[in-house]
Amino acid sequence: MERLIIKGGTRLEGTIPVSGCKNAVLPIAVAAAILGDGVSVLHNVPNLTDVRTLRAVLEGLGATIKLKDSTLYIEPINHLEYEAPYDLVRKMRASIYVLGPLVAKLGKAKVSFPGGCAIGPRPIDLHIRGLEHLGAEVTVEKGYIYAQAERLVGTEMYLTGQYGPSVGATANIMMAATLSQGTTVIRGAACEPHISDLARFLNTMGADIEGIGTSVLTIRGVKQLRGTEYTVISDDIEAGTFIVAGAITRGDVYVKGITPQQIPAISEKIVEAGVELDWDDKGVRVTTPREIKGIDISTAPFPGFPTDMQAQIMGMLCLASGTSIINENVHTDRFIHTAELNRMGADITVDGGKAIINGVPNLSGAPVMASDLRAGAVLVAAGMAASGETVLSRVYHLDRGYESIEKKLNNVGANITRVKD
Ligand code: UD1
Repeated sequence: MERLIIKGGTRLEGTIPVSGCKNAVLPIAVAAAILGDGVSVLHNVPNLTDVRTLRAVLEGLGATIKLKDSTLYIEPINHLEYEAPYDLVRKMRASIYVLGPLVAKLGKAKVSFPGGCAIGPRPIDLHIRGLEHLGAEVTVEKGYIYAQAERLVGTEMYLTGQYGPSVGATANIMMAATLSQGTTVIRGAACEPHISDLARFLNTMGADIEGIGTSVLTIRGVKQLRGTEYTVISDDIEAGTFIVAGAITRGDVYVKGITPQQIPAISEKIVEAGVELDWDDKGVRVTTPREIKGIDISTAPFPGFPTDMQAQIMGMLCLASGTSIINENVHTDRFIHTAELNRMGADITVDGGKAIINGVPNLSGAPVMASDLRAGAVLVAAGMAASGETVLSRVYHLDRGYESIEKKLNNVGANITRVKD
């Protein structure tokens, strides 16, 4: 097991490059490996544990995959297996993405119930409902989802659940619909930038998807999808994390490789808190000339404030003047990091899906634990701003979604060392 030793009190200064978007590359690689009939080449692929886990899942199904620098070569599957076993799928929830494409391509799939970050209950009823709308017969037995259909048939469906649209279900059903017979209309589709990127990728493979970036996706089924070459968009959440890292350390950083359109709500809230963002066509300069002000935030599906940035911005608000309130509406139990931040001197109270953050003047370093990916990110940011030393354990959560995080941050003035237990 590895830990990060973070020496606090550092000010970040310089350029931090943003890597490719994890949540885009996962479904894109699935589509390339299962739906495509030729080799696909993906550029701007981040080197992350989640990408390696997905690679193992896809190789287990029969694909041949090579990763060189940040380019992924995917040779689709000749003799496709239809089973994605528990041992692989439990490591990462996004493995569920193979379900729809396998049924579309093979007519059947057997996929273990997924694992993933410990951020509360994460049902998959919308994935199942969407496939049933397309005509698949789906059963759940002994921890496995079985789905089958001789040929999926396009239809109209509404794919929103009690917590709003689902990124995963939208991706799964959109992929399955590309090879279905006839036209599928998904209403209540997720509009996250990575969903749009997946749709654009599928279209370069020969799919026919309209309404990209909106909540109504129209997918006209085609007979075949070809291999293609594609550059994955940059990671909005990684960019948001670096913006917070710049602000929380009162630094002067340039976050390179992000557009304001990718992070509208994050930008809005960061600026409302008193941080300055100066955009140009390659990225954004982050400075914090005044004190950070307490603000209120409610997480929501895109274009709302992303749940995946809730922890990081909370870290920044711990050091703001006044009180901030965060309502977590997407993953309502996603507050495990508050206990760790309080151990560093923060003053946060959680009441159901609401966190009340009373700003404090300083945080102090402490031994802390990453409970999930974004919890790990906020603890790194808080550790850089705190006095003294923070020792972060369970770093493997962080490595699932941040490429060379300590290297990128050390390059701009952080003092973070990775040690093995
Ligand atoms: C994706 C992201 C994750 C992010 C989340 C919300 C990936 C690999 N992961 O996860 O980082 O936190 O979007 O932006 O892209 N829900 C149901 N039924 C379902 C599916 C979801 O009720 O069948 C609920 C979930 O419990 C949650 C909400 O809908 O409350 C949104 O979840 P969803 O968008 O599906 O999240 P993921 O795709 O798992």
